[in-house]
Amino acid sequence: MTRDQIAEHLRFAAELGVAGVSRDPAWRLRTTAPSIPPASHSVDDAQVEPPPVAAPHCVDHAEALAAIKAEIGPDCSRCKLHALGRTQVVFGVGNPDARLMFVGEAPGGDEDTQGVPFVGRAGQLLTKIIEAIGMTRDEVYIANVIKCRPPQNRNPEPDEVARCEPFLFHQIDVVQPRVIVALGKFATQALLRTLDPISRLRGRVFEYRGAKLIPTFHPAFLLRNPASKREVWEDMKLVKRLLAESFPPES
Ligand code: URA
Repeated sequence: MTRDQIAEHLRFAAELGVAGVSRDPAWRLRTTAPSIPPASHSVDDAQVEPPPVAAPHCVDHAEALAAIKAEIGPDCSRCKLHALGRTQVVFGVGNPDARLMFVGEAPGGDEDTQGVPFVGRAGQLLTKIIEAIGMTRDEVYIANVIKCRPPQNRNPEPDEVARCEPFLFHQIDVVQPRVIVALGKFATQALLRTLDPISRLRGRVFEYRGAKLIPTFHPAFLLRNPASKREVWEDMKLVKRLLAESFPPES
């Protein structure tokens, strides 16, 4: 990292409400988080999960993801979006063995052009959020509920979600993350099968397909409402704590 990049990272961390920064390289590996207050959230055992979809029989996660991508195919026409101006299917990106997965809504214009989720302005903010908890984009896995861009970035429609979401379930079952962050109202409501508002869902932890699911605000919402970055930072501290809890220190 250059000095400028470090300065920018620290500015962003301050903007997110980070109180202090440790110079200790062990910080990223630590499994307790003394500066993080104990979460008051309880884990909801709500029966919100749709039935699992059988994952391809590959031990290797990268191979299994490649098989799912091949199953979708480059010219997928399972829903009407293929005829409504999408350039390409935007599958998913990142570490096939990630402990942490982010799920967004649908590709936007930049994602549609580049074929990679979260690469536009909202994506750049997501990258900073990931870095603010001491991780990199390469370490996590990022995907969307639907894989093709809706026209004018409108909300995905129920028939489009119904056709596409089984592939997201496959991706989750293959990667087997410990923690899933659902980005924004749409992804959260789609995954949890609820119409509750995101303001009621965030700050809570849900059991979801063997992972802890944490809803938070979408980075695009944060671009319009920067004051909400503080709440996202609270959610990210919870993510970090849950990850640490699921990988206790070796004695
Ligand atoms: N917004 C999303 O929900 N997903 C993307 O990939 C980009 C923007």
